[in-house]
Amino acid sequence: MYIKDIQLANFRNYKTLSISFHPKINIIYGKNAQGKTNLLESIYVLALTKSHRSFIDSNLIKNGMNKAKIMGNILKDSFSSKYEIILEEKKKSFKIDGNLIKKTSDYISKINIIIFYPEDLDLIKGSPNIRRRFLNVELSQLNTGYYSILNDYNRLLKMRNDYIKSNISHIDENYFQVLTSYLVDKSILILKMRKKFIEKINENISDIFYQISSLKNFHIIYKSFIEYENDEELMKKKIIDLFKSNREKEIKYKSTLIGPHRDDIEFYIGNIDLKTFGSQGQQRIAILSLKLSEIEIFKKYKNDTPILLLDDVFSELDETKKNNLLNYITSDIQTIITTTDLTNIDSKIKKDAKLIEIENGTIKHIEEVE
Ligand SMILES: Nc1ncnc2c1ncn2[C@@H]1O[C@H](COP(=O)(O)OP(=O)(O)O)[C@@H](O)[C@H]1O
Ligand SMILES: [Mg+2]
Repeated sequence: MYIKDIQLANFRNYKTLSISFHPKINIIYGKNAQGKTNLLESIYVLALTKSHRSFIDSNLIKNGMNKAKIMGNILKDSFSSKYEIILEEKKKSFKIDGNLIKKTSDYISKINIIIFYPEDLDLIKGSPNIRRRFLNVELSQLNTGYYSILNDYNRLLKMRNDYIKSNISHIDENYFQVLTSYLVDKSILILKMRKKFIEKINENISDIFYQISSLKNFHIIYKSFIEYENDEELMKKKIIDLFKSNREKEIKYKSTLIGPHRDDIEFYIGNIDLKTFGSQGQQRIAILSLKLSEIEIFKKYKNDTPILLLDDVFSELDETKKNNLLNYITSDIQTIITTTDLTNIDSKIKKDAKLIEIENGTIKHIEEVE
């Protein structure tokens, strides 16, 4: 798939913007703080309804305004669809081809995005919630059902936590058990999908990591509160038992202490944990390999290429890694690259790319592909 064009109104530092993209390579360049990342962010938000760099939607609205709008046409399997997001202070709405979409889950698995950005390293070095967020975002794109299951899970989790907090001295056992049982059902679904996703990643990530680094046996591990069982009944029983043995602790901490909301992923070369023992270089290759292996997953399991967004990543990569990434870019995948310095980008790439210069939230210059 690829994005044909985008129109913005009051998004970040853009008052209005209308721009069309090339189906292959697009390079957005300009000085610092002009709106390059904002433009990539608008594509990300159009696809996934949330920003990759801000949890607060109202930050996306141009200062002093009360409403932002993003519109874009996406071409997929030679059909074009118009996507639209309106962001207001406390409200968001989505449309596809003019029709209001009520459920977010009906919207977000349609446009597939893979993004590389400088803060990506936090995926290894940062806290587990960053990695869980990664899993959730990727799985929501790959699997239409994931997002709504996750939503149900989070709703039940909040109910259960609220219940523990407010009824600590007189818990209604029947009610509590029913709530726990619903929560466990959703847990199992989430674990199952996450496990599958990790398996798919591991199908090719070791090869990709090896190509870039000549190091073997790279893989990722899903670190769960429970060992996965194919037999769902057995799994449910084990989780319920675990809840029982955690009862005292839950009361003490007044919250639900086990479940996929506490799980994590780990990155290994052989048996070496990259978070603790990996060099910064190895960690970067790990992230690069992770994203590249996701492209393969989209190709293989969704029969389509995602849109690739590369925010200012070329200045930080050495030649080998750059070339590896470029192999993907020069294949069949639409890529939108930002850079402050056009000389960072190989001339082979530049000559086939649409060049867009951004200055202070406006287009300064455009060069189409010949
Ligand atoms: N909500 C907003 N309203 C207006 N301007 C904003 C908003 N959010 C960010 N900006 C401005 O956008 C600019 C940064 O844009 P960004 O795309 O991150 O720059 P870069 O071109 O370096 O990637 C800054 O000047 C910042 O003040
Ligand atoms: Mg930037």
